[in-house]
Parts: sequence; structure tokens; C-alpha cells
Amino acid sequence: MLWLADGGLAAAVSSAGGLGVISPLAGCRPHGDAVQNLSTQIDRAGAVTSRPLGVNLPLDLREIDLLLDLILARGIGIVVTSAGSPALYTDLLKSCGVRVLHVVSSVKQAVKAKSAGVDAVIAAGVESGARNGHDEIPLFSLIPQVADHVDIPVIAAGGIADARGMVAAMALGAHGVQLGTRFLASRECIAHENYKKAVIEAGDTDTVITLRSLIPSRSLKNTPFTRKLMALEASGSTPDEIRQVLGHAASRRAGLEGDLSTGEAYCGSSAGLIREILPAADIIRLLVEGWDRIVTDL
Ligand SMILES: Cc1cc2nc3c(=O)[nH]c(=O)nc-3n(C[C@H](O)[C@H](O)[C@H](O)COP(=O)(O)O)c2cc1C
Repeated sequence: MLWLADGGLAAAVSSAGGLGVISPLAGCRPHGDAVQNLSTQIDRAGAVTSRPLGVNLPLDLREIDLLLDLILARGIGIVVTSAGSPALYTDLLKSCGVRVLHVVSSVKQAVKAKSAGVDAVIAAGVESGARNGHDEIPLFSLIPQVADHVDIPVIAAGGIADARGMVAAMALGAHGVQLGTRFLASRECIAHENYKKAVIEAGDTDTVITLRSLIPSRSLKNTPFTRKLMALEASGSTPDEIRQVLGHAASRRAGLEGDLSTGEAYCGSSAGLIREILPAADIIRLLVEGWDRIVTDL
């Protein structure tokens, strides 16, 4: 989670048995040094856990080459690539012994990622918080189709906040799940309290996709900023006009400053399932206990 998944949250998730994934920009200043920041976050996580950790590498980040150097120098074993072509860095990462997971939102992207040599794909459905694919495919249809077309593990993402979603994803052919919004509302997440409160108060109809002319993104619907974006889009504003309103680091303003008037509050449609802010370890414990209960009753 771009500005939010720092070393503290990733370590809490990994310590509890999940795989915590650090974002290079987590907690960073608006035009801050992502490379230095990632180094700090890796140190923070490493001070808390010796369990495996991943790093997310959005391939559109400016500092990509330096981030890659750092990831390799620090011995990170798992990289999640997103927002770009899997053909770019998969060979390099794999030749250095790094496992590569790539985020996809269609069968075509999954097949391309598999051809590029990734170890697993993360199939992200339209329910996902933050950026979405242009085809907006719901997870229930996406997982089995991706699973039918690639012979590597499929990790399901989007709309999963509890064990029911995890069991359903596995029944559809997934080998694992990735949760974003559920961990946004965790105690360890550095998201601003205003933002976390808005997430746990949101119901089933309270998220929406905007920015379809740029990169479709799912956010909380009832914030002044999202309402402004929706009005702009309804009035036929051009992508450039919308870009101007977004400005730089719009999701940081909501995420870290709690400013829901000028910031983009990314949020998945699973928000309606999330009623309290919990420690990351409790979230994982509930997933596992719920899984056991459901599977026993099947
Ligand atoms: C606030 C927020 C920021 C996110 N930022 C990123 C990101 O930087 N890179 C990425 O690959 N996915 C990002 N995601 C997507 C998550 O990794 C995950 O796939 C998604 O949240 C799953 O859907 P869910 O929110 O319904 O759990 C973000 C999600 C949220 C909620």
C-alpha cells in the first residue's frame, strides 16, 4: 500500500505468519527519497522479525533502478511488481534468486506475466482498493479464468477481508490471498486516524471507481475529494484537467495527513466487512480460525 505499508506493518504481518510487503514510499515525504526511505523501512522491519518480507516495486516509480539495486543489496527474497510490464525486470530479479510476483487484472496480463518468467501472479479484481485494471473484472470471474490459463500459483486480491473470502478464493482456484483494505484498518498501519475511521464506518455502497480516463482507482465515495472528481468526470473534464486537480501525491494527503477534502482515500469494496481497527496479528489469527471452522463444516 503505496504511502502506508511501512516496515512496521510489514513486520507485524510477517511475524503473524503472513507475508508483509513493504512499499518504498511508505511514510515518505511528498518528494522524498524513496531509496533512502525503503532502506529505513527494511531496517525497521528487520529489527522486529526474521521472517520473510517482500517489497512492492511499482514499475512506474522514478527511482526504479536505484530501488532495484537496494533490493538486491539488502537480500530481499520476494518482490511484487505492479503498474508496468513484467518483462522489464523479472529476468534480472530471478537471476539474483529473487522470487517475483506480478499484479495482473486480466487473463491476457497473466499469460504475459507467466511468459516473462514470474513465479506467481496476483490476480486483482475490480473490488480492490486503489488502482484497478481498465477492464474492471470481478474477482469471482477473474480467479478461475486466470487459473485455467497459467500453471503458476495465483494469489487472489480484491474484496477479501475475512475467512469467507479466503475460502471462496481458494475454491475458485487461488493458492493464496492478498489483503489491502483490511490491513489499512489495522493498529500498526500508519494511515491517519480520520482515514481508518472512514474505512470502518463505510458500508457496501461507499466505495467507487473514479479516474477511468487515467488509471481507474477505487476510493471511498463520500469524501469531498471523490465527490469533486465524480463531478469533474460527469461534466466531461479532460484527463489533463483531472490530473491538475489530483496534483502530486493525492493519496498521501488522505493516507498520511487524513485530509479527505483534497486527498484520494483509496479503499476496497471490502470496507463494508470491516468494523474495527485490529492488530495485524488478530486479523491473521481470525483468518486462520475462520478458515478452519468453514473447512471443517464443508
Ligand atoms: C491504500 C491502498 C494503497 C495501495 N497501494 C498499492 C501499491 O502501491 N501497489 C500495489 O501493487 N497495490 C496497491 N494496493 C492494492 C493492494 O496491494 C491489494 O491488492 C488490494 O488492496 C486488495 O484489495 P482489497 O483492498 O479489497 O483488500 C493498494 C491498496 C490500498 C487499499
